[in-house]
Amino acid sequence: MDFELKTLGPAGAAGEKCDALVVLVGELWRPGKDAVSALVAGALKAGDFEPKPGRLLQAYRSAGIAAPRVVLAGAGDGSARRIHAAVQAAVASLRTSKAKRLLIVLPANAGDEAVRAAVSATAETSYVYVATKSKPEGRELQRVTLAVADPKKHQAAFTAARAAANGIEFAREVANLPPNHATPTRLGEEARKLAKAHGFQCEVLGPKEVAKLGMGSFMAVAKGSDEPLRFIVLKYQGAAASQAPVVLVGKGITFDSGGISIKPSPEMDEMKFDMGGAASVLGTFRALGDLRPALNVVGLIPSCENMPDGGAFKPGDIFTSMSGQTIEVLNTDAEGRLILCDALTYAERFKPSAVVDVATLTGACVIALGGVRSGLFASDDTLAADLQAAGEAALDPCWRMPLDDEYGEGLKSNFADVANVAGRQGGAITAAKFLQRFTGKYPWAHLDVAGTAWKSGAAKGSTGRPVGLLVQFLVGRQGAAPAKAKVAKGTRKPAA
Ligand code: BES
Ligand code: MN
Ligand code: ZN
Repeated sequence: MDFELKTLGPAGAAGEKCDALVVLVGELWRPGKDAVSALVAGALKAGDFEPKPGRLLQAYRSAGIAAPRVVLAGAGDGSARRIHAAVQAAVASLRTSKAKRLLIVLPANAGDEAVRAAVSATAETSYVYVATKSKPEGRELQRVTLAVADPKKHQAAFTAARAAANGIEFAREVANLPPNHATPTRLGEEARKLAKAHGFQCEVLGPKEVAKLGMGSFMAVAKGSDEPLRFIVLKYQGAAASQAPVVLVGKGITFDSGGISIKPSPEMDEMKFDMGGAASVLGTFRALGDLRPALNVVGLIPSCENMPDGGAFKPGDIFTSMSGQTIEVLNTDAEGRLILCDALTYAERFKPSAVVDVATLTGACVIALGGVRSGLFASDDTLAADLQAAGEAALDPCWRMPLDDEYGEGLKSNFADVANVAGRQGGAITAAKFLQRFTGKYPWAHLDVAGTAWKSGAAKGSTGRPVGLLVQFLVGRQGAAPAKAKVAKGTRKPAA
């Protein structure tokens, strides 16, 4: 979808040619002398409309307004959340109209956060999955113009929001694909295509190369599937090569049957979304390609299926991870941490300024936080604060969870260095404690997006989260990342 930012007040909006005009009316709304103002004032006076959140009024062929359809949407206090909800409702109400060109008039006092919210809400609401439908229908909206008083003021926020929206759409599109399409091989191809389109470096490793790296834990998970595993490495360079990169790691389980510890049948189809972390890393790179911020970013995606055939790994099996730590598998359904741990060890070679892994890791996180906030775990308070703030700004929020060492005690094994599961209690945290064992060499954070990466039920589908959070985080990190410490021979390593 095409987004543009334009200087237009209500008077200009009335004359603008488009298929539908959405007017966000906040509590601070003041009437002007134009046709849009007259429509709003009339509706308010008649009691047919209020500037309150949730209120919506559609009008057709209003006097003096060029757009045939007008939707008034109550924006309450004009906060980002209210703008997001109002745009969502307005765009949803236009779904059957086949409108191609949309003009959205933001309240006069709209700030950057309102601009971001309007862009993300429009993109989110108008997205329609068509990839595997025989008759692709419903993708009508092509061009969206945001009318604001001073476009220059909002240009940076707008450009970032537009790039994030494209990244979110890309992530949703990939994650929504059925598991017989979105195989590890396909994810590798998507990464390659992205790299070609945007000038990223890209390597896609197969079983032989991964074996050579000693990723025994990752390889164990792939054993029960006929689909060959892939390990994807994407590199975006926007700053000097000497600058330490941020490494993003995405869980790429393209189908999680549970393996020998097989899952129950109901809703097992949703385990195609178990590559949501991987899709979010790809989507974030899509946004980096548009935005080209001044920093370096590496994306790592370990990808395979978790299936139960005769060659599958079993409860009781012990494997040696790339880090050298041996792992006793007590439950083959706790496979995400087994593929991530080797990627986290691989990340060390980049001497990263921070590593953030994204994974649909635990059902326990869904129980803890539901579908509203992603679980955030971090060994570094600054990194945690930055990610949390980015989530708030992007309306893609997360919530910090604890990592006390006591939570790791249940992972003890009589036969290996560590077991892959602890008890049922605090399952999201014990999973994070498992990962933490592999992250000692850099500041690390983990986002458990099991509850937020997709929706179930009638609205079943990928959300593209946490691409919004990650893009906001990376944009905010430009220039802030310390250079890789250059240690010349004979000099002391500078303190961190
Ligand atoms: N992919 C699942 C996590 C998941 C479960 C995401 C439900 C969304 C909804 C993960 O691989 C898994 O199966 N985790 C197990 C861990 C358990 C065996 C310790 C879980 O959460 O049940
Ligand atoms: Mn699993
Ligand atoms: Zn899984």
